[in-house]
Amino acid sequence: TDATSDLFTLPKAELHLHIEGTLEPELAFELADRNRIRLPYESVDQLASRYSFTDLQSFLDLYYATMTVLRTEDDFAELTRRYLRRATAQGVRHAEIFFDPQAHVSRGVPFEAVVDGIGAALAEAARDQDVSGGLILCFLRDRPVVEAEQILTTALARVDTLIGVGLDSAEVGYPPSLFADVFGRARAAGLHAVAHAGEEGPASYIGEALDLLEAERIDHGIRAVEDPALVGRLAHEETALTVCPLSNVRLRAVPDLTAHPLRSLMDAGVRVTVNSDDPAYFGGYIGDNFVAVQDALELTDLDMMRIAQNSVESAFAPLDRKVALL
Ligand code: ADE
Ligand code: ZN
Repeated sequence: TDATSDLFTLPKAELHLHIEGTLEPELAFELADRNRIRLPYESVDQLASRYSFTDLQSFLDLYYATMTVLRTEDDFAELTRRYLRRATAQGVRHAEIFFDPQAHVSRGVPFEAVVDGIGAALAEAARDQDVSGGLILCFLRDRPVVEAEQILTTALARVDTLIGVGLDSAEVGYPPSLFADVFGRARAAGLHAVAHAGEEGPASYIGEALDLLEAERIDHGIRAVEDPALVGRLAHEETALTVCPLSNVRLRAVPDLTAHPLRSLMDAGVRVTVNSDDPAYFGGYIGDNFVAVQDALELTDLDMMRIAQNSVESAFAPLDRKVALL
């Protein structure tokens, strides 16, 4: 429809996107063949049929198992090329891409292969498709803190390849406070800070991410609605939430889209953005999330423009780039 194509062409920044979560079943099989790895599925369709989840952990189990087909610099470049093709077709003009280096380095893939592969595809797309972007290294919060310290040390040797650090993986039981020192080091090196908080975990983790990690944006953050004082703080401090509506439905963080708190957060004055999280697994890229959420929450076209504008304003991009996209 026209409404769909308008939402797809609206210039937007994608601020919550795990590059490993863009691995479509077709590419997973191509890379498995190329790298002589056996996936425990008979076919693309059989793998795709497993993309049905009961909670965050049930997704993470498949996510970490499937990403083992990513081995070489060119694998990461091809993954990123395909993501950027789909994303630009849905209006993404700036992409801040999360990656999980601990999940690759622990399998013997060099950190450099990961950042150089993703970086090469980003550079190509900047040249050919007018999309800008950068890389945000996510620490796996359900792994030992010492492992995060070690990957940060590795990463700081190539700090030029990064714009920031984040925190992801299984949330409940792994509060942001564990990572205060790691984030302090990263910030001291000039990196931006973001963190997943309040996806499955309690609203108190959002406060911790702000106070102890000095997170500049909160990834998900939807459980903030349970704490009105926190909602007031987020609005007052103009902290962006990188909300991922289709992800929240697929991982059962919300019962269905009509019950999604995005609208109440927006109405309370919180700077909400809409993003795709792990689009290959959750049934849609960023434009699909815009369409679904407008429909389910009866948001106006002006609301959708505001959401897109929020994403550009909240990006870690140079001011002249933001101005060009607004
Ligand atoms: N890693 C990839 N997607 C994630 C999500 N939605 N929450 C936490 N960790 C993730
Ligand atoms: Zn995420």
